[in-house]
Amino acid sequence: MANKTFKLNTGQDIPALGLGTWQSAPGEVKEAVAYALKAGYKLIDCAYCYANEEEVGQGLAEAFAAGVKREDIFVVSKVWATYTTRCELGLEKSLQKLGLDYVDLYLVHWPLLMNPEGNDDRFPKLPNGERDIIRSHNHVDTWKQMEKLVATGKTKAIGVSNYSKRYLEQLLPHATIVPAVNQIENHPALPQQEIVDLCREKGIHIMAYSPLGSTGGPLFTAEPVVKIAEKHGVKPATVLLSYHLPRGSTVLAKSVTPERIKENMNLIDLDGEDMKLLNDYSDKLTKEGKLQRFVYPPFGVDFGFPDKS
Ligand SMILES: NC(=O)c1ccc[n+]([C@@H]2O[C@H](COP(=O)([O-])OP(=O)(O)OC[C@H]3O[C@@H](n4cnc5c(N)ncnc54)[C@H](OP(=O)(O)O)[C@@H]3O)[C@@H](O)[C@H]2O)c1
Repeated sequence: MANKTFKLNTGQDIPALGLGTWQSAPGEVKEAVAYALKAGYKLIDCAYCYANEEEVGQGLAEAFAAGVKREDIFVVSKVWATYTTRCELGLEKSLQKLGLDYVDLYLVHWPLLMNPEGNDDRFPKLPNGERDIIRSHNHVDTWKQMEKLVATGKTKAIGVSNYSKRYLEQLLPHATIVPAVNQIENHPALPQQEIVDLCREKGIHIMAYSPLGSTGGPLFTAEPVVKIAEKHGVKPATVLLSYHLPRGSTVLAKSVTPERIKENMNLIDLDGEDMKLLNDYSDKLTKEGKLQRFVYPPFGVDFGFPDKS
């Protein structure tokens, strides 16, 4: 199942499963990346903001030395918010750290601009401690820069991340290139169905992040997840990752623990009954206003997500 792929609107194949690298600490992430690639992972999800791309690059180099071929893997990186007026520079910095000539997919990490001349390369702050955000910036202008990157050959495809339905509807009328991907937080406690449906209609592939609920896997004890795991004799993590296959989405699982990296490759086929249980759970949380969003940086910007607007 880990070898399953989906087709992007560019014609590229994108693996159904990828290794996440957010919060993968220095001293751990090189080994995690090398281990995952040697074990058969084909996609590594990176970002300039994670401040570990150099070590991810060392992991890639170790895997290449062990026989993994660059053309057989899919590497994703993202332009950070302090670079959304300088996308090519952002991409070049990531490529240099990763030790690559190109990435397979480059995403706009969040649709905003933080002060490129602020007091920090990644998280500039104002004297009052708030994030230094340039509120006059239009995210469509970032996309226009992203479109120019494809011709440079430094990325095979471009896409977005953390785009709500509202933001996509602002972007798409101006897009010469339709984003190949929208990478969003996605799991049964945050199905974001309105985004998934719009993306399907427009040919934009969903990459699901924080599928386990992020740090510590807080969704492992959700009742339907436990029930389905018992039925199939698998771990709750397997159910949460497998949920994305019938939805037609790529799922990103972060781990720096070899046994878990391996275990997370064992995606299973969930049947109609399983998916109904999980969808009913999502509907119940939606109705009760109890959806859970685990990743929402304190930008103080309304990105158009219904649970946050
Ligand atoms: N575009 C964005 O804005 C954005 C935002 C968030 C995430 N992402 C991407 O999506 C990736 C995944 O999301 P995430 O890192 O937030 O969280 P996640 O993958 O939902 O969960 C990671 C946590 O679950 C643990 N874990 C992993 N596999 C497990 C297993 N089989 N059993 C028990 N625990 C397990 C990990 O621990 P150990 O590592 O200690 O094993 C870690 O604490 C990120 O790494 C990143 O690449 C993108």
